[in-house]
Amino acid sequence: MPSPRDASPEFQKLLDQTALDVENTMKRLLPETDLPEAPLYEAMRYGTLGGGKRLRPFMLIQCAKLFGVDEMRARRVGAALEFLHCYSLIHDDLPAMDNSDMRRGKASTHVEFDEATAILAGDALLTFAFEIVSQEETHADPRVRIELVQMLAQAAGGHGMVGGQMLDLIGEGEEFDFGTISRMQRMKTGRLISFACEAGAVLGKASEVHRRALRNYANDLGLAFQVTDDVLDVESDASVLGKPANQDEAAGKATFVSTMGKEQAKQRAEMLVDQAIRHLKVFDNRADNLIELANYVLARRA
Ligand code: IPE
Ligand code: IPE
Ligand code: MG
Ligand code: MG
Ligand code: MG
Repeated sequence: MPSPRDASPEFQKLLDQTALDVENTMKRLLPETDLPEAPLYEAMRYGTLGGGKRLRPFMLIQCAKLFGVDEMRARRVGAALEFLHCYSLIHDDLPAMDNSDMRRGKASTHVEFDEATAILAGDALLTFAFEIVSQEETHADPRVRIELVQMLAQAAGGHGMVGGQMLDLIGEGEEFDFGTISRMQRMKTGRLISFACEAGAVLGKASEVHRRALRNYANDLGLAFQVTDDVLDVESDASVLGKPANQDEAAGKATFVSTMGKEQAKQRAEMLVDQAIRHLKVFDNRADNLIELANYVLARRA
């Protein structure tokens, strides 16, 4: 059934084109090699190229565009963030974590290669992201580059994505209250999404008002994104998702779906997306792509 949240054809075209552009930037940054350690690079390319919605780079590019940032620069930071996100997925799928054998419609990296190579590929992608952000091509002003490095470290590390992943594992053996689940989701998923939006503002040296608006948008959207992921886990199947379904309950994960049920979780995601959109008012109609993106996060099937 079509819903008013469904993406327009123009928006879908923009998403597809951005995904292509980002893929090309990533390929250029991560070329094939015939060094003796080539399997590491093969696994890095395998885990990052040829799949994924590329929504985080899309957010970054669209936020940067609000402030007239050169798209090549935004695309570089978007590619760095996508490399880091892919590392988080490679490690998330490992037997010691979610033990998922499928990702983006193909075998997970540790299945295609082996566990040790997948761990190393993740490690190398994480550090590579910082290398890219710190390079001069990213921004002429070294203060901007340092700020981005700091923001990315905070978003990805113990107070961000990695800390959230720890909570996710603890939640397999414990009941979490609503506040703890929200905090976990904001950390494990929300923080990289917040980086995506705020980095666009930093690249464009945006005013504090605009930066705060994007931060608030991303906070709500990031949480809605993970709630929707948890709903899709119970509602969809592997052929559509490109990754195994019904994993969370089987692993005993604490999610909004496990505490409040699927219908309430969906309502919560809708409420969060509407709230996210309201934060964009300061941009008048210049942020229409970010509004469509928020609706897309809710309406997506994968
Ligand atoms: C999956 O992220 C992991 C979560 C944080 C929920 P995405 O749904 O963005 O996955 P890809 O990048 O499109 O594969
Ligand atoms: C992953 O959450 C969040 C990360 C930081 C990687 P999930 O474990 O729910 O992501 P999927 O469902 O495997 O993509
Ligand atoms: Mg997980
Ligand atoms: Mg997982
Ligand atoms: Mg999931």
